[in-house]
Amino acid sequence: MSNYPYEYERCLDMEQIGESPQRQTHSLEGFVPLLGLTEGCGALLVILIFVWTSFYRNGFSWRSNPGLEFNWHPLLMVIGFVFLYANAMLIYRTQRNVRKRRLKLIHAGLMLFIVLLIVIALIAVFDSHNLASSPIPNMYTLHSWVGLTTVILFCCQWVAGCITFLFPGLQTPLRASYMPIHVYFGVAAFIGAIASCLLGLNEKAIFTLKNKYADFDGEGVLMNCIGLLLISFGGLSVYLVTQERYRRLPRPEDEVLLSG
Ligand code: HEM
Repeated sequence: MSNYPYEYERCLDMEQIGESPQRQTHSLEGFVPLLGLTEGCGALLVILIFVWTSFYRNGFSWRSNPGLEFNWHPLLMVIGFVFLYANAMLIYRTQRNVRKRRLKLIHAGLMLFIVLLIVIALIAVFDSHNLASSPIPNMYTLHSWVGLTTVILFCCQWVAGCITFLFPGLQTPLRASYMPIHVYFGVAAFIGAIASCLLGLNEKAIFTLKNKYADFDGEGVLMNCIGLLLISFGGLSVYLVTQERYRRLPRPEDEVLLSG
């Protein structure tokens, strides 16, 4: 039997990192503690954004109370576009023993779920502007421009990824040459999401806390801590996902599924 599909995966791997097979080193040293630190930062980030929106910003509602409807926006963006996105990117490295075909489906499925969370988060913020007793203009801030550009990039990336890697008819060299582009724009959109959250958090602190922010008010300190956690989680995730030595090596059983 031809080992072509297995070789294809190997080529794809090598092509993506620009390395010859001989030079590729696969030491997982430091991976588990770094992943633990990353997930710890991520979990704390999700807990703190929940504490901030629930207790400092008075919780959640939908269209009956646009002020509280807003709170879904930061909560769902941080859970979906930051925490789940990082984990979906890292899945090939964290789930090394799961078959490639299943990983691809989980990766694409998680990304689709993230799109759903983003849509709800966007509806919440547009409603909070349009349904307010004195409506607020839309799309005038740098945060909203960077945020929407990142969302559009993320959606294009999802569609292109599905067509290239899940659509059965596409030619192998085309898939291999698209892989580095997919990785680059995947990481770029993730960095865009972190930047959008930082901009949004900062403008919200300035809009709502006003002078209290300068007095080291508790809520302002909490928001600054959330910002630092966003940077730490984002930095660690990008490190883990770009380290060549932590790549998942192709497994022999991938071949069966690729040819099947
Ligand atoms: C990657 C994550 C995020 C994206 C893609 C995003 C996207 C957007 C978009 C497109 C708007 C424009 C809505 C309109 O004009 O009606 C907006 C508004 C807003 N967002 Fe975000 N957002 C994100 C995260 C956050 C976070 C974490 C906060 C923290 C509080 C936040 C705070 C705000 C605020 C205060 C507004 C209203 C003012 C404005 O239009 O800039 N956002 N966001």
